[in-house]
Amino acid sequence: MKIGLMGLGTVGTGVVHLINQNGKNIEKKLGEKIEIKKILVKDPNKKRTSFAEGKITFDANDILEDEEIDVVVEVMGKEHPALEYIIKALKKGKHVVTANKEVIAVHGKELIKLATENKVNLLYEASVGGGIPIIRPLKQCLAANKIYEIKGILNGTTNYILTEMKEKGLDFEEALKEAQQKGYAEADPTDDVEGFDAARKLAILCTLAFNKFILPEKIYTKGIKSISKSDIKYAEELGYHVKLIAYAKIDENERLEAWVHPVMIKKDNPLSSVNGVFNAILVDGNAVGEVMFYGQGAGMMPTASAVVADIMDVKNHIVIQNGCEDADLLPVVDTASKYYI
Ligand code: NAP
Ligand code: HSE
Repeated sequence: MKIGLMGLGTVGTGVVHLINQNGKNIEKKLGEKIEIKKILVKDPNKKRTSFAEGKITFDANDILEDEEIDVVVEVMGKEHPALEYIIKALKKGKHVVTANKEVIAVHGKELIKLATENKVNLLYEASVGGGIPIIRPLKQCLAANKIYEIKGILNGTTNYILTEMKEKGLDFEEALKEAQQKGYAEADPTDDVEGFDAARKLAILCTLAFNKFILPEKIYTKGIKSISKSDIKYAEELGYHVKLIAYAKIDENERLEAWVHPVMIKKDNPLSSVNGVFNAILVDGNAVGEVMFYGQGAGMMPTASAVVADIMDVKNHIVIQNGCEDADLLPVVDTASKYYI
C-alpha cells in the first residue's frame, strides 16, 4: 500500500514512527506493507527526520497526481487547503484518511457523498478523541441503538490546562504553553481554549449518533479562558472539579440540544477523574445503556494509533452515503443548573 502523507508535524511524525516501529506486525495483520512514498510539508527551512529524506515535497500535486499512491493521509490541519486536497484525492479515486475535525465537521457530509460516488473510502477516527476509538464504535458497534445522549470531555489541551491549574497551581498561560510543547494544542490554540475544537468534535459525534447534521458554529460554545485558579479552588472546596464539557441530547421530537462550556462536576461523577490530556465520552443508547470511552485525547502516538488503524482499514469498508438530516436545534437556556452535573 503506497501512502502520500500530507503533514509531518506532531501527528505526521507519529504516523511515521508507528509504521516504522510496528511495521512487521502491521504487515502481518494487513497482508501487505505500508510504504510512505511522499510527504507534503510547507516550510523548506525546517529540519526533517532522516526517514523523510528523498520523500519531501512542497507541491500537493506530487501526491495527488501520483498514480501509484492509493491512500492520501491528511494530517496538515486547518480547513484550507486541506479540504481542496481531500476533494481532489477522492475525485482521483484515492482513499483518504484524515485527523482533521475542522474539515470533517463542516464538510463531512459532502465528502462522504463524494467518496461514495468515487467508490473510495474516507476515514477519520483520529478527528475525535485522539487515540480513543469512538467514530467506528458509533458508526458500527452501536449502530443498532437509538442514542439519546452524548456527553464528555473532548479536548485534551483544555483538560490538561484545567488539571495543571488544579494540581500544580500553574497559571492558565503556563499550562497552555506546556500543552503546546507536548503537541496537544491546535496550530491556533484559540480553537482549543475557546471551545471551538470541542464543538467541532461534538458536531461530528452528533452526525454519527443521531444522524443529524449540525454546523459547529450553531453549537453554543464557551471556552475556559475566563476560569481562574480561584474558581477552581472554590469549586474544589464545594466538592466539584471544573471541566470543559461537550453535551448533546435528542428529544422525543428529534430536536437537538447541544453545547460546550465549563461545568462544575461532582467529585463522584466518572468525568471528574478524567485528568490531563485524557478525554472521556459517555454514550447512552436504548439497547446498550451507558457506555464510556476513555483514553488519551491528543498527542503524537495516541493520535497516530488511530490514523494508522484507519490506513490499515481503508480498503475494507467502503463508505455508504446515509441520509443525514439537518438538525433542528433547541435554543440553549443558559440556566445556572446546567453548570453543575
Ligand atoms: P502540526 O504539528 O502543526 O503539523 C502540521 C503539518 O502540516 C506540518 O508538517 C506542516 O508543515 C504541514 N502543513 C500545514 N499546512 C500546510 C500546507 N498548506 N501545505 C503543506 N504542508 C502543510 O499539526 P498536528 O498537531 O500534527 O495536527 C495535524 C492535524 O491532526 C490537525 O487537523 C489536528 O487538528 C489533528 N489532530 C491533532 C492531534 C494532536 O494531538 N496534535 C490529535 C488529533 C487530531 P511544516 O512542517 O513545513 O510546518
Ligand atoms: N487540540 C486537540 C486537543 C487535539 O487538545 O484535544 C486532539 O484533537
